[in-house]
Amino acid sequence: MKTITMGIIGAGRIGKLHADNLLSRVPGVRLKGITDPFLDEEWVRSRNIPLSGKDHRILLEDPEIDAILIGSPSPEHAPQMVECAKAGKHIFCEKPIALDPTVIRNALAEVEQAGVKLQVGFNRRFDPSFAAVQQQVASGALGDPHIIRITSRDPAPPPAQYVASSGGIFLDMTIHDFDMARFLSGSEVTEVHAYGAVLVDPEIGKAGDVDTAVVSLRFANGALGIIENSRKAVYGYDQRVEVFGSKGTALAENNTPTRMVVLNESGVTRDKPLYFFLERYQAAFVGEMQAFVHAILNDTPTPVSGNDGLAPVLIALAAIESVKSGKPVPVPS
Ligand SMILES: NC(=O)c1ccc[n+]([C@@H]2O[C@H](COP(=O)([O-])OP(=O)(O)OC[C@H]3O[C@@H](n4cnc5c(N)ncnc54)[C@H](O)[C@@H]3O)[C@@H](O)[C@H]2O)c1
Repeated sequence: MKTITMGIIGAGRIGKLHADNLLSRVPGVRLKGITDPFLDEEWVRSRNIPLSGKDHRILLEDPEIDAILIGSPSPEHAPQMVECAKAGKHIFCEKPIALDPTVIRNALAEVEQAGVKLQVGFNRRFDPSFAAVQQQVASGALGDPHIIRITSRDPAPPPAQYVASSGGIFLDMTIHDFDMARFLSGSEVTEVHAYGAVLVDPEIGKAGDVDTAVVSLRFANGALGIIENSRKAVYGYDQRVEVFGSKGTALAENNTPTRMVVLNESGVTRDKPLYFFLERYQAAFVGEMQAFVHAILNDTPTPVSGNDGLAPVLIALAAIESVKSGKPVPVPS
């Protein structure tokens, strides 16, 4: 079987998760190296990864490495993407590519010029339930899509200092839902009207962000959409989607650890949703990596392109402007 060799930049939560998937759950790939300025050496040893260090240039300079996964903090993504492209490495980049569309466009131009493949880490497209809903839309089984509904609530808010560096709720959290809206509708978002409130943690408000949001969307194909977010759902990670069309509705409910339901004299109980993204989207993280490796091995386009990385940032920036102005804001095409 043909294989590719990969390296990972950034060994935090997401870098380690991808590393474990590449090591044991994705055929056709060998994980050769991982770097992080604050590398957890013991963790690297426990995984038997042969090449490691603090400086990511050891991956760029290694002729055996075909592709690099960028899992560093968001501000590092675009410059590291350009370095990888110039070194002729295929790139898997975590979301968001950057918070500034000009920076994204410049990085994408470098990738294009280098002729390497790029996939952006919108993992939820590979969630089996969400992908099945999208297939219902794409097959025409639901008729024309009329309303896209996305519920996305975290189990607990991040520290306020993370909020400040992440770009805020729309660029960090809702960005996944903007991508999901494009994915499910098969259309582009043309206008957003967003509301935000600080109802969970006043520190998030002091950091200049909101922790609760509702976003109305208008799509180029005429459909409408609604996304609602909270940074804290006391019952866990609430992730649901629904597409209502002229011929029917398809929806995906939360995933739970078991499907058991207990009925007794005090009521009916079932499991809470899986706790957070590491548990809820485990299959999706494996699926996106399999798709990336497949695209390189078979020289086919990756399923989440550079433009798919740019579009949700443009929607997020329009949502931020809408919260400030209190008015609907067009999304640049
Ligand atoms: N797709 C998803 O669902 C998902 C989930 C979580 C995080 N992310 C994204 O992944 C990225 C990392 O998030 P995280 O939660 O793993 O953060 P994290 O803080 O846990 O990990 C980031 C790691 O990068 C390292 N680092 C710092 N500067 C670096 C540099 N210049 N080069 C290489 N590594 C550097 C840090 O030491 C740290 O170990 C963020 O962009 C985030 O938006 C995506």
